[in-house]
Order: sequence, then C-alpha cells, then structure tokens
Amino acid sequence: MDGGRAKGKDQGVVDGVAAMAHCYQEFNPKAYLQYNYTPPRADFSRADSIVPWKLGCLHRAFTEGDVGGETLVDVGSGPTLYQVLSGCELFGRVVLTDFLDVNRRELRRWLREEEGSFDWTPYLKHVCKLEGRSPSAWQEKATRLRSVVTEILPIDVHQPLPLPLGALPTPGADCLVSSFCLESVSPDLASFTRALGHMSGLLKPGGHLLLIGALGESYYMAGPGVRIPVVPLDEAQVCTSLRENGYALIHLSTYTLPPDMRVGVDDVSGIFFVKAKKM
Ligand SMILES: C[S@@+](CC[C@H](N)C(=O)[O-])C[C@H]1O[C@@H](n2cnc3c(N)ncnc32)[C@H](O)[C@@H]1O
Repeated sequence: MDGGRAKGKDQGVVDGVAAMAHCYQEFNPKAYLQYNYTPPRADFSRADSIVPWKLGCLHRAFTEGDVGGETLVDVGSGPTLYQVLSGCELFGRVVLTDFLDVNRRELRRWLREEEGSFDWTPYLKHVCKLEGRSPSAWQEKATRLRSVVTEILPIDVHQPLPLPLGALPTPGADCLVSSFCLESVSPDLASFTRALGHMSGLLKPGGHLLLIGALGESYYMAGPGVRIPVVPLDEAQVCTSLRENGYALIHLSTYTLPPDMRVGVDDVSGIFFVKAKKM
C-alpha cells in the first residue's frame, strides 16, 4: 500500500518534469530575446528598467571582494550572456549551460562572431561603465568574455548530476550564477527546491551562488503561442529553499516591475536577486 503510494508520488514527479521538458521543445530564442532583452525591459537610459537593475546587482555582488576563484558556472544560460558580463573579469574559466540545443547554438553564434547573433554591445558598454571604465572598452570586455568561456554544456537541473560526468573539477565550481531558470523549469515548489539541491552539487563548499528569479510569476511566453508555466514564488519561499539546501544568505534584493515593464509576455510582478554562500 505504502509502496504503491510512494510509486504514485514518484511517477507524479516524473510526469511533472516531463511535461515541463515538453513545453520547452517550442522555445524560440530570438523571440525570447526580443521580449525580454530589448527596450523597455532593457532601456539603459532608465535606472528603473529591468536589465540595468539586474546588471547593477551582478556588478555589486561580483565586486564586494568575497567572490573569486577559477571556475564560474552559469546554470540555464538560455540564449543570454548578460549574467556573466561582470563575472567574466574575475574567473579564468566560465562554463555556460543550457537544456536546449537551440539556446546553446545561439550562444555559440555570438562567441564565434557569426552573422545574426544578438547584439550585446549596449550591455557590454553599460557594464564597462559600472566598472568605471570607458564605454569604449566594450570590445575588450567582449574579447575577455570570448576568451574565458571554455564550454557550452547541456544541463538538466532535474537530474541529481545536472552536468556530464567530469565536466567540473572536484569539489565543484567556485561560483554559480543562475537567472530565471529554476522557477521556470520546475512544475512546483518542491521540484524547485529539489532542482536547487541538484544545482548546488556543482558548487564547492564555501562557494557563492548568485541567483536571480521571478516573483509571483505563473507563466511566460517563449515565442508566439508558446506559454511556459512558472512556479509563482515569494521571497520567503526562496529563503526557505536556500536554507533547506545548506546556504547562508548574504543578501536578497527585490525589484517591483513598473507598470510599463508589464509588456504582456508574462505575468511577473517582481524579481529577486540573492547572494548566498554554500556552507
Ligand atoms: C526563462 S529561461 C532563462 C534564460 C536566461 N538565463 C535568462 O536569464 O533570461 C529558462 C532556461 O532554462 C532552460 N531549461 C529548461 N529546462 C531545463 C532543465 N531541466 N535544466 C536546466 N535548464 C533548463 C531553458 O532552455 C531556458 O533557457
């Protein structure tokens, strides 16, 4: 009887995760970039635009003097690079990862300077400014990023070992960054917490996690007609999941979307930024 119940629960978990994987088959990198990484959400003339807020948080977290080492891993990179523009100055090896080949190909296109890749120039210029450099140094930053990204690997945060065996040195990466991944690939809160645990296996004890995610979001559009369900989170749930996975919270910042950032591609109400240390 009990065994049957346990089996039923395990099957439910497998089905929920498989349903999420199915939703992602239609993910459209170009549309996703257009929806989230162009104005008004990426308006560098406005401090209250989403992307400048995220870049400011990342810049601060990476320059407080406590984060460093050899290897930085970005979990669930998608087709985006903004999340490693500050970190690429501190680490000699940056590993990008995504579940989908279309996203890994999109990243590769930029790294190889191929035609049709997304234009990250305004992002590079903005982060140069945050670093006190001239915006004209953006090409140096682009060169730096291209030189330190050593791999773009497949990943599945629902597997106890999310990356191919031997991909990282033991005891793990020095730092993890992950943005809008866990809550948008998990069927429920329990699965989110479990995925955070799997991901944490990639980080060495004492290493840092920089986690960015959506608050109060139940879906987002990943292309025309491609609606992806999201676990609606609040700050307390994020903190509990971190604690359950052995993290000490260093700081948590939140951002509330101004009305004109609600552009009809999701129902997100806010964003959290966490800096935490694996104990
Ligand atoms: C909302 S996007 C976030 C992309 C990017 N990090 C950003 O900040 O915009 C979620 C990403 O998670 C990836 N993903 C889907 N299922 C996954 C899984 N099981 N494990 C890891 N990543 C997954 C998707 O391919 C997608 O790129």
